[in-house]
Amino acid sequence: MKPSTITIDGPAASGKSTIGELLAQEMGYLYFDTGVMYRAVTWIALKRGVPIEDEAAVTALAHRLHIDVTTPTVEDGRQYTVLADGEDVTWSIRRPEVDANVSPVSTYGGVREVMVRQQRRVAAGGRIVMVGRDIGSVVLPDADLKLYLDATVEERAKRRWRELRQRGRPAAYEEVLAMMRRRDDIDSHRAIAPLRVPTGAVVVDTTGLTVAQVLSRVRELAEKE
Ligand code: DC
Repeated sequence: MKPSTITIDGPAASGKSTIGELLAQEMGYLYFDTGVMYRAVTWIALKRGVPIEDEAAVTALAHRLHIDVTTPTVEDGRQYTVLADGEDVTWSIRRPEVDANVSPVSTYGGVREVMVRQQRRVAAGGRIVMVGRDIGSVVLPDADLKLYLDATVEERAKRRWRELRQRGRPAAYEEVLAMMRRRDDIDSHRAIAPLRVPTGAVVVDTTGLTVAQVLSRVRELAEKE
């Protein structure tokens, strides 16, 4: 039997969203990138002037904010549309100021509680590829197939650096590398649901591999289940 619930965790720029989307497409499953929820809360907090370091205020915002992730509503290369209280924030949540502030927001326990509850609801129907940092470990520990994608920090920084250039937001490689190290550090050392290899997950090291090579390995795993 094919796995119905598939989780993909791993550090930033390890290939989770590229592989997750392609795998979901092939299997006819829903693709859900949970990082967008933390990003939406962060962007709206920045926009509404809620201080990021004010845990209570950010948590209250997460409780109030209505986040919707739908199939793309505009053909501009997006994988999905993200709405926050009805406003299209799909591209805003990719801004550098969100990159710089989302890790602290995702350390807040109250924020995580709200997000996890919504994510479990989305996954309840199965036939889903859910991507994030704590999906196989906390959100869906009983998933049918759990994957953990990894790559060296230098390779991941290079990928992000290339992505930013393509989007017309060039940045110095050294800066991107420093930011990547900082995010890795916060994501893997936070007290609640830190990034780690979930029990029972298959680790795929994507360093030096093409997207096609990673996809073929992942496909093999999904067919073997
Ligand atoms: O995958 P991403 O870069 O869009 O994730 C943004 C941030 O959200 C990242 O710092 C880790 C956090 N995150 C998380 O804590 N748990 C998840 N399930 C997904 C993302």
